[in-house]
Amino acid sequence: MILITGGAGFIGSNFVHHWLAGHDEAVAVVDKLTYAGNLDNLASVAQRPDFSFERIDICDRSEVARAIATHRPRAILHFAAESHVDRSIDGPGEFIRTNVQGTYELLEATRAYWSSLPPVERDAFRFLHVSTDEVYGSLDDGAPAFSETTPYSPRSPYSASKAASDHLVSAWHHTYGLPTLTTNCSNNYGPYQFPEKLIPLVILNALDGKPLPVYGDGSNVRDWLHVEDHCRAIERVLELGRPGRTYNVGGKNEIRNIDVVRTLCAILDELRPDPAGSHERLITFVKDRPGHDHRYAIDPTRIESELGWQPAETFETGIRKTVRWYLDNAEWIARVRDGRYREWIDRQYGRRAAAEGADR
Ligand code: NAD
Ligand code: DAU
Repeated sequence: MILITGGAGFIGSNFVHHWLAGHDEAVAVVDKLTYAGNLDNLASVAQRPDFSFERIDICDRSEVARAIATHRPRAILHFAAESHVDRSIDGPGEFIRTNVQGTYELLEATRAYWSSLPPVERDAFRFLHVSTDEVYGSLDDGAPAFSETTPYSPRSPYSASKAASDHLVSAWHHTYGLPTLTTNCSNNYGPYQFPEKLIPLVILNALDGKPLPVYGDGSNVRDWLHVEDHCRAIERVLELGRPGRTYNVGGKNEIRNIDVVRTLCAILDELRPDPAGSHERLITFVKDRPGHDHRYAIDPTRIESELGWQPAETFETGIRKTVRWYLDNAEWIARVRDGRYREWIDRQYGRRAAAEGADR
């Protein structure tokens, strides 16, 4: 079986669905269920015998070690993180705690388990760390895309905390021999993304006739990849990647933010026309993000040539599917927006915490 941290978030939950649809191997999810963790994302697999969930903070090493000892995974896939750049600017502390301290605790719990495995299982074991292209910093227009040898140059508290976690993973490989793999991926979009990130935020605001906030002049460039393609890349790296190696993942879809927003408006004009006029009328340029990275671009040559991965979606096909998903999942959106997705969590885990308190 495989153990996934952060499996109730956007990419982690997509990965759980992807894995269970294509593999005859069980999945255990470990997730703290922060504001970004949503069990609705996993509702359709929650009752399956090959799926289990534990609410655990990765900073709690003894709980993580207990979960690993219980499930005895052949691989641990580490998605759990604080992931939103704007929140990291507002309050960096949680990013240092989860992304740096949490990764350290997880690595140590994993190392103890891995060291105790019989030799054949120890050789086959993998720790896959899911990271970001933001660790490489910002590119000027026309500069070559990030490769695996681009020096790290993180510029936000989020990317600095992810860079630190990448270095820890690398050190645990070189020092202790832990068979690690790291993926550095560009911007994802798709189902189940929390509507604080650009694409779901714009779709939801447009449907509500609210302003579509574009930071600065909208000329910043991101390299967009459909989340399913990211999941396929992670699967490929897990199966075929060489321990100690890092793999850049990206779809060669460099687009300016303003063009992403205009594309979303055009699709919504077609699929959900607004009698008040084109959704483009809602575009509003707002104050820029402090330290806003200008451009990210990924050179995916290594994962393409060594592991045979290629994205299946273009931006045009993926973004249309994504808009349709949000239009077809109004209940998911409503529960995220009015906070109902947290009610069950609070009832379930609040009650459990109260019972545990009474036991003590
Ligand atoms: P997300 O914010 O949607 O989900 C993060 C998940 O981690 C949530 O379920 C949350 O509850 C959980 N979590 C947070 N702190 C935790 C803790 N202390 N213990 C246990 N669980 C905790 O994030 P995402 O967009 O799905 O990103 C997943 C991973 O992929 C992150 O490591 C992120 O850095 C990386 N990544 C994201 C993107 C992107 O475009 N979203 C691109 C490249 C890499
Ligand atoms: O590159 C990978 C990274 O992509 C991941 O590591 C991060 O976890 C993920 O959040 C994402 O980071 P970004 O900061 O690029 O994503 P976000 O959706 O927040 O913003 C995308 C671009 O759009 C960015 O240039 C900022 C801009 N933006 C964002 C928001 C939320 C706006 O113009 N308006 C907005 O309201």
